[in-house]
Amino acid sequence: MAEKNWETLEGACYYCKKCRLWETRNHVVIGKGNKNADIMFIGEGPGQQEDLQGIPFVGPAGQLLDKMLKAIDLTIDDVYIANVVKCRPPGNRDPQEDEQEACLNYLRYQLMLVKPKIIVCLGRIAGTAIISPTFRITKQRGQWLERKGYWITSTFHPSALLRDETKKRPAWEDFQAIKQKLIELQ
Ligand code: URA
Repeated sequence: MAEKNWETLEGACYYCKKCRLWETRNHVVIGKGNKNADIMFIGEGPGQQEDLQGIPFVGPAGQLLDKMLKAIDLTIDDVYIANVVKCRPPGNRDPQEDEQEACLNYLRYQLMLVKPKIIVCLGRIAGTAIISPTFRITKQRGQWLERKGYWITSTFHPSALLRDETKKRPAWEDFQAIKQKLIELQ
């Protein structure tokens, strides 16, 4: 990709055929929110609603994420939200390793453009792609590491909270810690 800007990224993504997911997508889902945010949330990949609308986290998981942001006094204007893969895996299956690999350079490019202070991985897939191939969500969520100038942490994916109420309390604690880190880094 030539010059580093949003137009270059968006152009490359909209015509991307680097993996098989282009064959079944309705829309490429790049990101939403504040392109200069201090904090970037990274999910797994678009679901049905996201694929139809071309916007990440607009379905039930997105509504819960909005509520959790509100609980720490943040809105979509304070954050940027993207996914590990930009096209919907059919039937909401996990994105396969080669699909993630094909898409990760776009996410790296997005990170360079947004330059957040904090990266929050939502769930196992984002944690594995961003933090470490051996990442374990139940063991490592809530931990922080500093890498390449970013503070990185992880918490449960909002879809996991919708399936299992007992995860809400630890996720709430993770969000409180995220807020604290944001204040510290101001
Ligand atoms: N789940 C995700 O991981 N990303 C979305 O955009 C929607 C649901």
